[in-house]
Amino acid sequence: MGPSLTGTLGRVRLRPLAAEDADAVVRWRNEPSVAQQMFSPPPVSREAHLRWFERARVGGDREEFIILWRASGAEAAVGTIGLSHIEPQHGRAEYGILIGDPSARGQGVARAASELLLDYAFGPRGLERVYLQAFADNAAALQLYVRLGFVREGVLRRHARRDGEPRDVVVMGILKDEWLGRARERTDDEA
Ligand SMILES: CC(C)(COP(=O)(O)OP(=O)(O)OC[C@H]1O[C@@H](n2cnc3c(N)ncnc32)[C@H](O)[C@@H]1OP(=O)(O)O)[C@@H](O)C(=O)NCCC(=O)NCCS
Repeated sequence: MGPSLTGTLGRVRLRPLAAEDADAVVRWRNEPSVAQQMFSPPPVSREAHLRWFERARVGGDREEFIILWRASGAEAAVGTIGLSHIEPQHGRAEYGILIGDPSARGQGVARAASELLLDYAFGPRGLERVYLQAFADNAAALQLYVRLGFVREGVLRRHARRDGEPRDVVVMGILKDEWLGRARERTDDEA
């Protein structure tokens, strides 16, 4: 599904999602704090997830990665991140992330993983624009996206239902030039 990426901070690494990750992905997607922020219901079984995985593999417009985090000397899989709806013709893709293990949250893992993914998206993957959609009340995710440099582009009113209730969905995007500008600032800060 895509090359393996290695974190600059050294504690976060991405590798392509594999069929062997099925149990972990099903567990994370069914975690209540994750399930309530997703637009589609969680897979009910390992088999259901593997059917999705096979469709995604054949579809070819998606690259999904496992987020590996090294803490106290041991590396553990803590979530997934990826690009979907990759449309080379338009140079765009949709970004999505989840840290499925709540104890791994709030420690900069999502931010580091996202930086790796965006470096890849605007570097080797050659994209012009990466966009995302999130429930308007997902404060943690929206804060992460602002910190990464995503710009709020609009609100899709009552765009998706959660527990049967229509909810607003925020659309955010970041352009290649904006990301490369931020990457230059990061390098200047380190110099
Ligand atoms: C959103 C999510 C990916 C953030 O992961 P994380 O590893 O905890 O995020 P980080 O530690 O890298 O934090 C990145 C930024 O987000 C902020 N943030 C993280 N959790 C937050 C919270 N609960 N409330 C407010 N801001 C929060 C951090 O403060 C940080 O910003 P800062 O640099 O200004 O401090 C994680 O909470 C998650 O997986 N949630 C469930 C699934 C989900 O909502 N996915 C997104 C669907 S659109």
